[in-house]
Amino acid sequence: MRLDKFVCKSTRLTRCEAQAQILAGQVSVNGQVATSAAMQVHENNCITLNGQPLIARPSQYIMLHKPANTLCSNIDGDYPSVFRYLPMTEAREMHIAGRLDADTTGLVLITDDGRWSFTLFNPRFACQKIYRVDLRDPLDCLAFHRIEREFNQGIMLPGESQLTRAATMTQVSSQQVLLRISEGRYHQVKRMFALVGNKVTGLHRQQIGEICLDVPAGQWRHLSAEEVASVIIGTEAFEG
Ligand code: URA
Repeated sequence: MRLDKFVCKSTRLTRCEAQAQILAGQVSVNGQVATSAAMQVHENNCITLNGQPLIARPSQYIMLHKPANTLCSNIDGDYPSVFRYLPMTEAREMHIAGRLDADTTGLVLITDDGRWSFTLFNPRFACQKIYRVDLRDPLDCLAFHRIEREFNQGIMLPGESQLTRAATMTQVSSQQVLLRISEGRYHQVKRMFALVGNKVTGLHRQQIGEICLDVPAGQWRHLSAEEVASVIIGTEAFEG
């Protein structure tokens, strides 16, 4: 990772403060004074700040229950960013692994581990996401099975050149279904239902892989070691 990122990860300094320390010649890598904040370093390197060895804090992994009318973005826009639900000390240097639309609620994973989030949302690894979908038009049994079959076979979304991956669906009520997809294209769920002539009126993500949302709206918690590992284990199982 970049040296300034490593310094942030192993201290309470912001990225700007870490860069200032590097420019001031206070940071050494393997005994040499570092001159570039962008220098690539490894956790095994001996990195010191003012002569004190730095040890990287372990990566952070958080689940947040995103309320409606919030943005999966690091900054506020038309709505407030979901990062306002996290304390600053947790939010620093973190990113969202798999964004939701402003009006979508539910499970958002936030981390500073880029490899982990890449695995989670890389279509090659087919990590399953479960959405509860509210629909404008009720589905009778026939319509449900027709759409289920279409989604299972894969559909061609407008402007795309590849069929969607096989999705599965369970009916909860005439106007609510659970949809399981293993990719995350732009507005995917809303576009899938638009293509079959319906409209999503409410969307909530309740599960990603083995990780199930279990905190109330606006609340967050750290993931357990098992939840973090489940992404890697799931990936290995898929690749192997
Ligand atoms: N699909 C959508 O259409 N919107 C989301 O927020 C997530 C999946």
